[in-house]
Amino acid sequence: MPKLTLPTESKMLQRDFIYGVATSSFQIEGARAARLPCIWDTFCRQPGAIVDGSHGDVACEHIARWQQDVELIANLGVDAYRLSIAWGRVMDERGQPNQEGIRFYQNLVAALTAHGIKVFVTLYHWDLPQYLEDQGGWLNRQTAYAFAEYADVISQALGEQVYSYATLNEPFCSAYLGYEVGIHAPGKKGQRYGRQAAHHLLLAHGLAMQVLRRTVPSSECGIVLNFSTAYGASSSAADTHAAQLADQYHNLWYLQPLLEGRYPDVLTLLPEDVRPEIGADDMAIISAKNDFIGINYYTRAVFASDGKGWFVQCEPTKTPLTAMGWEVVPEAFEKLLVDLHQRFSLPPLYITENGAAFDDQIVDGAIYDKPRIDYFNSHLNAVHNAIEQGVNIRGYFAWSLMDNFEWALGYSKRFGIVHVDYHTQQRTLKHSALAYKGLLENRL
Ligand code: NOJ
Repeated sequence: MPKLTLPTESKMLQRDFIYGVATSSFQIEGARAARLPCIWDTFCRQPGAIVDGSHGDVACEHIARWQQDVELIANLGVDAYRLSIAWGRVMDERGQPNQEGIRFYQNLVAALTAHGIKVFVTLYHWDLPQYLEDQGGWLNRQTAYAFAEYADVISQALGEQVYSYATLNEPFCSAYLGYEVGIHAPGKKGQRYGRQAAHHLLLAHGLAMQVLRRTVPSSECGIVLNFSTAYGASSSAADTHAAQLADQYHNLWYLQPLLEGRYPDVLTLLPEDVRPEIGADDMAIISAKNDFIGINYYTRAVFASDGKGWFVQCEPTKTPLTAMGWEVVPEAFEKLLVDLHQRFSLPPLYITENGAAFDDQIVDGAIYDKPRIDYFNSHLNAVHNAIEQGVNIRGYFAWSLMDNFEWALGYSKRFGIVHVDYHTQQRTLKHSALAYKGLLENRL
């Protein structure tokens, strides 16, 4: 069986480097009746929105099977588990706490802690309660304040037993995919919407950070952002410029406000009526210190000039491709980390997601997912290389613990290191899970 290997002197083999697995609430929990409907419940019911017509009502039945799942996580030998809280499971429509939902997460956190597993909580992994969307969702500034209230309730309930709180997961996806191009919930389309939603999400982050500093002063608090390293389609000046613009528009739009209190220069190229409305104190609130930034990386993106001073994204050219059609480019991961480190004054980083979907085959009950093992191996080594170049990276989380609801692609794409049979809900460790476990066992 192929192994995951790092150079023997790697800092990633020292015990203080944190290894984990990650999931999110909507993607695994199910038990829809026990929480408020969220924007993804609504989106899933729009014909054609989800490729296999599926939804999150049942998912991996994690709410019913959480104890078994905790055992599964513990059995992998990981140091940490990254999960997200479903906002609509812990708050009701009047903004009051839902004790039953809160108790679920308290029990989960306690069980993980009892196993010595550090808990990394994400407060918002895209499942906005539908009643808030009905009031404008992330286009409504009030949603940012509602988020801070929710952060207050849940952080007080879970307290400092939670090692790390991330406010948002991938605000790019919420804003751009959800409100600008409409391929994610709530399915709104408009450049102005996307830019305004992004701003309110960042404001929500900043307001929640103020709360977390008060409620959980000794937990690590920050945010999780996604990056696709931007490359020019050619070395021409026009394509190089296009890639820089795309990098600012898709990646740095979410990072630069946090670190420098301003949007990237690409903002000035946008028509006035597309630019977000920004309150007088917003950028100061958004740019308060983070204890960490979580980096989610899967692939690179290639851009060309559209000949009119803007960029267009090109089709993948490099192979291999994952089942998502994403190029496997570990050197783009290394480049991303090193570039960010050289350009910005960064807080410590965690790799909060990295992984790949492949079309797994079960043969005699075993899933020999060599392409996924190869992916993890090359990307773990990319992280190692970045650390050697001075990037401060504290941990790595594989996406995902188990196969789950892959958003607009439903259950058709499997990212898990554990296979889920959606008919029986049986969990089976893939070879990648065994390889990950093997790596963790072989540490110093
Ligand atoms: C990032 C998201 O955070 C996660 O929910 C998703 O499943 C993975 N990317 C894979 O697309």
